[in-house]
Order: sequence, then C-alpha cells, then structure tokens
Amino acid sequence: ETPEQHAAFEARIARGEKIEPGDWMPAEYRRQLIRMISQHAHSEVVGMLPEGEWIARAPSLKRKTILMAKVQDEAGHGQYLYHAAETLGVTREEMLDALLTRKAKYSSIFNYPTLTWADVGMIGWLVDGAAIKNQTMLAGCSYGPYSRAMVRICSEETFHHKQGKEMMVLYAQGTPEQRQMAQDALNRWWWPAVQMLGPHDSDSPNTGALSKWGIKLKTNDEVRQEFINEHVPELLEAGLTIPDPDLHQDEAGNWVHGPIDWSEFWAVIKGEQGLGNERLATRQAAQDEGAWVREALEAYMARQAKGEAA
Ligand code: ACO
Repeated sequence: ETPEQHAAFEARIARGEKIEPGDWMPAEYRRQLIRMISQHAHSEVVGMLPEGEWIARAPSLKRKTILMAKVQDEAGHGQYLYHAAETLGVTREEMLDALLTRKAKYSSIFNYPTLTWADVGMIGWLVDGAAIKNQTMLAGCSYGPYSRAMVRICSEETFHHKQGKEMMVLYAQGTPEQRQMAQDALNRWWWPAVQMLGPHDSDSPNTGALSKWGIKLKTNDEVRQEFINEHVPELLEAGLTIPDPDLHQDEAGNWVHGPIDWSEFWAVIKGEQGLGNERLATRQAAQDEGAWVREALEAYMARQAKGEAA
C-alpha cells in the first residue's frame, strides 16, 4: 500500500464515489467491511430463530402467512449479505466457521427469548424499527455491493416494521389480557432494542475508521437517538408505558433515555446471559445436517468438471 494509493482512495471517498469489488482499497477498509457485513449476515440468519419458533403457533392464518414471509425474507437478507462479503475475498465457509467458533459476533438482540406471541410483534416494531434506522444509513455507505443490498433489505424491513406495529397497536388497545401481553413484551424488548444499536460512541472502537471511510454515516448514539425519537411518541400514543423512569424530552425535543446496562449487553453477546449457547448449537446442528447437501454439490461439480475436461 503506497501513500499515493491511499490518497487516491481517500479522494474517491471524498467525492462520494462508490467503491466496487476489484477496486483498490486499503486492507483495513476491506477488513472492516468483511467484519461488519459478515456479522450483519449472521444476525439475519440467527435472527430467523426467535421468530421461526412461532410459525407453528401463530394465532391465525393471516399472522402465520406474514410471519413465514418475514422469516424467509431474513434468510434472503443473509444471502445478499454473505454474497456482498464474498466480493471482498472471504469465503462462505470462512464466515460460517467464524460464527460457529465465536470469532464473529451477531446481534445481541437475537439472544433474547420470545416468550409470548406479542414478542413476535414487538420484534417487528422495535427490533426492525431499530434495524431500519441503522440500515437506511448504511444504504448510503461507500461500498457499492453493501449499499445496494441495503436498499432492497430496507424496503423489506419496512414491511416487517409495519406488520409488527399494526399488531402491537391492536393488542395495546385490545382486551385487558392483550394489553398486558403487549406491555410485558415492551418491558422485555425496550432495553435490548436500545442496546442493539451498539455501545456509546465513546466506547465504540470501530466508529472512527468506519466514519472516515464513509461506511458509517452516523454514529451509534446518533442512530439510537433517531430510533428513540421516532418510537417513544408512537408507543405512548398506543397507550403503552416505556420501562425507563428517567426518559424525558430535552429542550431540543429529543427523548433522553436513562442509563443503559452495558454489562447485560456484553454478557448477552458472550453467551453468559440469554440464549447465545442455544442459538449457536442450533446453527451448528443446521450446519451438520446440511453437510450431505454440500458434499453432493461438490461431487456434482467435480463430475461436471471431469466431463468438461474429457
Ligand atoms: N450485538 C453484538 N455485537 C455488537 C452489537 C450488537 N448489538 N453492537 C456492537 N457490537 C460489537 C461490534 O461488532 C464490535 O465488535 P467487533 O469489533 O468484535 O466486531 C464491538 O461491539 C464494538 O462496537 P462498535 O465499535 O460500535 O462496532 P461497529 O462500529 O461495527 O458498530 C453496528 C456496531 C452499529 C452494529 C455496526 O456494526 C453495524 O451497523 N452493522 C451492520 C448492521 C447489523 O449488523 N445489524 C444487525 C442487526 S439488524 C437485523 O439483523 C434485523
């Protein structure tokens, strides 16, 4: 890597050009993107688990159809994102190995259990709501394949968000039991959703490089503020109580949250709290059970290659 190459690269970023696969890029830009995109892909795939558990228990045909479509969308998002990461020179096998050996993370939010049906709705409203804020920002990022994947993913996430909100507003204004179920779900998911947008900027080692290179156009705290500002009025309007006694609006109109329990966040990521070990065991089982498919594909490709050579 020469200073001239770096200068030309920085100039492209400053001009707002998209960087495409095969273009010259600093090794650290490539490493950061592989880290982030692969972890994002893992989050989509692990994210199928908490909701997938409810497909067979959905309360109506309509809700079941929506949930099946949503979980399938998440599998599709995982696919786009693994492909986007592959354009940077990493293989699918390397990424999956990093997930299963805990070298790569995935979003903390998916290590929480879905105890009732209302948790499925709350995931749509809050978790997908938070994800949209983060991913709308990433749709403008400097790496072409990632930014284009985000455009498609965000439009699908918007459907996920709407169906969750529609369901929760209905329950929040329904029978006393439904209202209680909605409130309990909010009590469980509010803080994990606030945490999922990442540590405070002062404790975010990657933000500097990601911002410099136009990958992150907003910091974790900025995206969190946007998420809170949008969702607090909607939750209050639905008649729900947000489980944060310190929550208040400042003079600028921003909703200011109370202290976040970061020890819980890190314990959940490490699998010391929540369902991290179960989630990885489920992914490992899926990997093992799919081994015969990969073997069959390899055998088929080898036969094709032999046929072509003959
Ligand atoms: N869960 C697990 N790990 C997290 C989370 C989280 N919610 N937030 C931050 N971290 C990790 C980071 O990955 C980083 O660890 P690493 O260096 O080992 O990779 C560490 O905590 C420090 O955080 P930051 O320096 O702030 O990390 P970064 O600058 O990458 O910001 C963020 C984190 C905002 C999640 C960013 O990576 C991002 O935008 N990723 C793409 C979006 C994404 O992955 N969304 C997943 C959930 S959305 C969904 O699937 C529906």
